[in-house]
Amino acid sequence: MDLFSSIDTEPVRRQMETLAEEIDRLNHEYYMNDRSLISDQEFDAMLRQLQDLERQYPELASPLSPTKRVGGEVNKTFRQVEHRFPMLSLGNTYSIEEIEEFEARTRKLLDGEEFSYTCELKYDGVAIGLTYRHGRLVQAVTRGNGAVGDDITLNAKTIPTIPLRLRGDYPDDFEARGEVVYPFDAFEAMNRQREADGLEPFANPRNAASGSLKLQDSAECAKRKLMFCMYFMMAPDGIALPGTHYGRLQWASQMGFKVQPYIKECKNIDEIKAFIDHWDRARWDLPFGTDGIVIKVNQTALWDRLGLTAKSPRWAIAYKFKAERVSTPLLSIDYQVGRTGKVTPVANLSPVHLGGTVVRRATLVNADFIQNFDICQGDSLFIEKGGEIIPKVVGVDLDRRAPGAAPIAYADRCPECGTPLVRIEGEAAHYCPNSDHCHPQLIGRLEHFVGRKAMDIETLGPERLELLYKAGLVRDVADIYTLRREQLIGLGTDATLQDKSADNLLAAIEASKDIPFERVLFALGIRYVGEVGAKKLARYFKDMDSLMAATEEELAQVEDVGTVTAHAVYEWFALPAHRAIVQRLREAGLQMAGQWEAGGTQLEGMTIVVSGTFEHFSRDEIKADIERHGGKVSSSVSTKTTYLLAGEKTGPEKLKKAERIGVPLLTESQYIEMTAVT
Ligand code: IVH
Repeated sequence: MDLFSSIDTEPVRRQMETLAEEIDRLNHEYYMNDRSLISDQEFDAMLRQLQDLERQYPELASPLSPTKRVGGEVNKTFRQVEHRFPMLSLGNTYSIEEIEEFEARTRKLLDGEEFSYTCELKYDGVAIGLTYRHGRLVQAVTRGNGAVGDDITLNAKTIPTIPLRLRGDYPDDFEARGEVVYPFDAFEAMNRQREADGLEPFANPRNAASGSLKLQDSAECAKRKLMFCMYFMMAPDGIALPGTHYGRLQWASQMGFKVQPYIKECKNIDEIKAFIDHWDRARWDLPFGTDGIVIKVNQTALWDRLGLTAKSPRWAIAYKFKAERVSTPLLSIDYQVGRTGKVTPVANLSPVHLGGTVVRRATLVNADFIQNFDICQGDSLFIEKGGEIIPKVVGVDLDRRAPGAAPIAYADRCPECGTPLVRIEGEAAHYCPNSDHCHPQLIGRLEHFVGRKAMDIETLGPERLELLYKAGLVRDVADIYTLRREQLIGLGTDATLQDKSADNLLAAIEASKDIPFERVLFALGIRYVGEVGAKKLARYFKDMDSLMAATEEELAQVEDVGTVTAHAVYEWFALPAHRAIVQRLREAGLQMAGQWEAGGTQLEGMTIVVSGTFEHFSRDEIKADIERHGGKVSSSVSTKTTYLLAGEKTGPEKLKKAERIGVPLLTESQYIEMTAVT
């Protein structure tokens, strides 16, 4: 290091620090106290000045600079990290009686002790944990399965209500927990923009918040205007925190966290009930979603005395608000055709506010649904939305029915291609049988084939597929492998496919030839054959030829493959056109066989304890799978355990023990990766 630069840069470093501090202060005033001290332009100018300096002197740029809030760094993958303190969930109920029982039980257990409760909102978003050391944010992790979550630090830094550096006095090492929520107005604005851009809107603010935290480009996340509501604070042994939950949150607020003011210390059940009552009505005036009230014992010293049940602490409970219901006129019905030809009726509704968002559409599921509810033309429908994702039609508002209203006549022709619809015996849905020429089916199959969980040709999005389809280059999935560079260049009105993107596309197509057989099978889009079904079929039959030669009875032998799926698979392969596609895919070099001869040896010498529930396996299946790969299954965590395979709702005792004796955790996806045939 030469003398000059160290002397030269000192004033710059100081200038950068001053700017950063000032921007931090203005941000704090703006987001925490709703106060704008300068104009937007002045603020932007300051931020740009700091950005310029950081570009000029990257070695002086702080990783916690407020410029990080704008994002820019890209998350390649989200590293999985173990939670230092497991993230437990709460017992919850819709019943006031159960809240009374909770209160009475707690009082009894604490036998004569003086104590109180805190009541606060249950924020409807995504739980994350933030680790702070020496007043600086070092890591942000999603809840995941409670034991292991995703490291989303880069994206968390873009959320203005997450302090990067703490103010005043703070514990040297602690974790702040809270919920990332999507405020309604920002959510609505973002969804409108998505629709204008031809993208699928998010179903609700919670989904949108969760999707935003998983965005690869943190600059995109920065645009999402998320908010963090802190609700919990914990620290390792030896670091003192205030003795009440209320006191902890107050302290957190002084450190610069956004702690919502809607929190109240309650002395007894009547005060708790009054709080619930108030918010059950007042919640609609909040700028963000809440789906209930969380009641916690305020004195933290009592938490240990009350302890934990299998899943959640005994010192807290959540009361969930009942779903809100409105009635709104049915304007018309769209019939959507999916890739399998399945037709779904969707109600276009007169827009109505429900649970903080505007509802315009809701599924009518199938013809039986319409018939069972006896929906008539011009009816008003009751729509409900619990804490749940999608607004649901739950009935007809008969008070608003016009006299003599005629029942809905279900579509009899495909709205896309005009082919008469068919209804297979025993099935609720109608289908368009014109699978070879009906546009949404063709495009849908192509989209499914290139999807992330199938052949993963990510550069081939819906728009490009449409382009290739219209140009006559891709009509079926096998055509994808015939594409040549010269056909691609300059395709599209604005020459969407330039040299480089054409090369990238061809490279992605080439890479997909290594995708394992089970995913190729899934990619074919055979009705009822999902990811897991494809895996089971692939493992059972081992290669395409044996699968194609199988009888319906043989197919139905496979675990989890019922007669309906067996029939669908058999029928699919019976069609010469489908066999021809498979043949062309084979010639293109796709994987047509897997290697599972003796299961595998990946887990040889390992002892694995299984806990919780899994997405792709039942508990027995995953145990059998471990053994098939040479591993041993054991029921209790000990020093002999190689891994604790932790699913959703893993037992807290097992987690604690594993942590204490240093047994590493394994998630389901890590497990699948570990046992995958490469
Ligand atoms: S306290 C050990 N307080 O609700 C207690 N949770 O199942 C930790 N949530 O996953 C949770 N608002 O994500 C707490 N004010 C609040 C909350 C809250 C929302 C979420 C949290 C948790 C779930 C409870």
